[in-house]
Amino acid sequence: MGRRLPGLEGKSILTEAELNLLDTYLEKINPETFIEIGSWTGTSCAWLAKRHPNIQFICFDTFIAGGEEQIGRWLKNKQPNMILILGDSTDLVTMNLSAEIIFIDGDHTLEGCRVDLLHSASSLFPGGLLICHDYGHLGFGVHQAVDEMLARHKDYDVIEKVDSMIVIQDVEELDDVEESET
Ligand SMILES: C[S@@+](CC[C@H](N)C(=O)[O-])C[C@H]1O[C@@H](n2cnc3c(N)ncnc32)[C@H](O)[C@@H]1O
Repeated sequence: MGRRLPGLEGKSILTEAELNLLDTYLEKINPETFIEIGSWTGTSCAWLAKRHPNIQFICFDTFIAGGEEQIGRWLKNKQPNMILILGDSTDLVTMNLSAEIIFIDGDHTLEGCRVDLLHSASSLFPGGLLICHDYGHLGFGVHQAVDEMLARHKDYDVIEKVDSMIVIQDVEELDDVEESET
């Protein structure tokens, strides 16, 4: 499962198109911070971090399944602009962190995704992007949790879907700016 990336340990779970999508948004937005919930061996993140040395990459993982071996791989992949937090999206909120792009790929259960979406949405800068992996896999809870959020919050726009990834933008504050300009 996953793809090896040159010069990096472990594998990336992302398809080439999904990884390129993240890369394109980093290029376009040039955020100060990118947060990844669920980093696994950190392979995808390290590939992005190498290409964007001025962006801070904050990775959360509980490493519940992979344990020390997985952490060891993550540490081998670590780039100077990567930070690892052993925890989940609750810690994102308690640590008061925020970012322009939050990539969610952690707990894939329905309840877990609901919690990650809630915490991530509250940690997102106005106009920021929530990018969720495995939206296209109906066996996981991601699809339902994302659709519930989209139905509840009219201020989230679906920007695009690539392979199993979905990109959502919080446009609430952007709408406010546009209204005040007219
Ligand atoms: C599919 S892998 C992530 C793949 C990685 N994003 C990539 O691009 O290759 C899912 C990861 O989420 C982690 N995880 C599971 N539940 C989590 C949670 N509640 N918070 C943070 N990470 C979690 C697992 O330990 C695992 O490493």
